[in-house]
Formats: sequence, structure tokens, C-alpha cells
Amino acid sequence: MTAQYAVFGNPIAHSKSPQIHAHFAAQQGEVIEYSRILVENSPAAFQAAVQDFFARGGCGANVTVPFKQYAFDLVDELSERAQAAGAVNTLILLENGQLRGDNTDGVGLVNDMVDNLQVDLRGKKVLILGAGGATRGVVLPILAQQPDSLIIANRTQSKAIELATQFSVQAASFADTAQLRPDIVINATSGSLNGELPAVSENIFSETSLVYDMVYGAEPTPFLRHAQAHGAARIADGLGMLVGQAAESFRLWRGFAPQIAPVIAAIRAEMG
Ligand code: ATR
Repeated sequence: MTAQYAVFGNPIAHSKSPQIHAHFAAQQGEVIEYSRILVENSPAAFQAAVQDFFARGGCGANVTVPFKQYAFDLVDELSERAQAAGAVNTLILLENGQLRGDNTDGVGLVNDMVDNLQVDLRGKKVLILGAGGATRGVVLPILAQQPDSLIIANRTQSKAIELATQFSVQAASFADTAQLRPDIVINATSGSLNGELPAVSENIFSETSLVYDMVYGAEPTPFLRHAQAHGAARIADGLGMLVGQAAESFRLWRGFAPQIAPVIAAIRAEMG
């Protein structure tokens, strides 16, 4: 039987994960089944859908908005990075039938930067905007690259302080950003999904070698256009992070680490 995988989410119809994983399987010389599963937004409905999927022979699954916390609560064991992220985006079926939860979002971002964009984070001043789940998921993998510094700036400063304290990094308010001259800026605010610009100083872009937005689209996001207009030398959207997190999930499930650059290019071309 063809190995079966799935992504659980709500909404899920526009998820690119099936195409991405089909590309990875082709690199491996194999065919897999990868479906989108729409689930009602409740912990009970999520649990039932996951149990049903694995009872029907599912081999592994991804979890996306709004179920990453539910998955965190559901699994039998957690990886260290899922624990740090407080969220699970990858379900792995263990030989004893139990489910292990992992989080590949942060590694996905770092792999996109290092392998695909060829930006070395070591010794760099990194500024991340936002202090929600998206930021929490990427802090440890960024720190593993040994940046010079990592500053978390958030609209609600208390949340930045809370998260920064947990990871022993620095916190800033949006007003503080006028003084900052980071090398790399990462936008992890959810407002970017609606094109809302975080109210940070334009000064932060002037010395950057890379400005990154976790959101992606056929066109550069409003945040990336804004950064470019204020001096950002280079911009990148989150499509590479999406492909990167998928690649790490695929590796965990199938023991094969796919190349991400050709898949990012293929998916970008499909977006038109
Ligand atoms: P996610 O899991 O996507 O990170 P979240 O946990 O709800 O979602 O966190 C959303 C983050 O985006 C928060 O840091 C939020 O800032 P606040 O803590 O001040 O709410 C940030 N955010 C959302 N919309 C924003 C906007 N328009 N400008 C600036 N920050 C925004």
C-alpha cells in the first residue's frame, strides 16, 4: 500500500503541502499519498480526526493552524524543540503505536536562510518582530546558529519580555527599534497575513543584509516592499520556510533529506 500522510488544518483547502511532499517523494524515487484534512476547530474533533487517520494506516502527519497547540496536548511524547516551541507541527507514528510530536518550523526557517538563501546567521544581529507562537517556534534553531544577538520586539512589550526571558535573549518595544541596526530582520507578526505593517522604526532596515517575512505570496508582501523602500538590501518571503519545515518532516518520517531549493522554485512557478 502507498504510504499515507496528511495535513490537518482549518482552513486547509489552499495548503501547498501535498504538492511539496509529492516533489520530495519524487526526489526519493517514490510515490506517497498526502491529503488535506479539514477538521472542525475543537480539541475533541482534532483528536478524533488524528486517531481515525492513524487507525486507517496513516504513517505521519503535519498539523497547521489552528491545531498546533491541540497536537502538543495530544501526543504521547514531545521532542525538545516541540517542547520549547510549545507547539507541534509534525506527528510521527512510533513502532509501539504511540505518537511523537515534533516542531520543524524553526529548522525550516534556518534551512531556508542557510541552505537556500545562503545567509550565514553566525555573528549576525538578528531582530525578530512578534512574540507569538510563530516566534516561539524559531528562537532555539536561530540561537543554534550562534548569532551575535537576538532581540525580540513586540507591539505588546510585556509579551516580548516574557518570551525573551524564557530564552535568555533581549526584548524591545516597537519604540525601542529606532535605536536598532540589525543585520537580519524577521517579521513573525500574524498581522502580516492581512498586510498590516508592524509599527516599527524604518531605521531598522538601513543596514540589513536580509529582511524576511514568514508570510508568503505571489508578490512580495507589503512588509517586504516597505523594507525595500527603506533600504533593505535583500528580501525573502516565507515560502522557503514552508518548504523547509516540510523537508524536515519528510526526513523524520522517511529518513531522506530532500533538497529544498528546486522545490521552492517549482512551487513559486506554480503560484504564477
Ligand atoms: P502566531 O502563532 O502567528 O505567532 P499569535 O500567537 O496570536 O500568532 O501572535 C501574534 C503576534 O503577532 C503577536 O506578537 C502580535 O502582537 P501583540 O502581542 O501585540 O498582539 C503580533 N501582531 C499581530 N498583528 C499585529 C500588527 N498589526 N502589528 C504588530 N504586531 C502584530
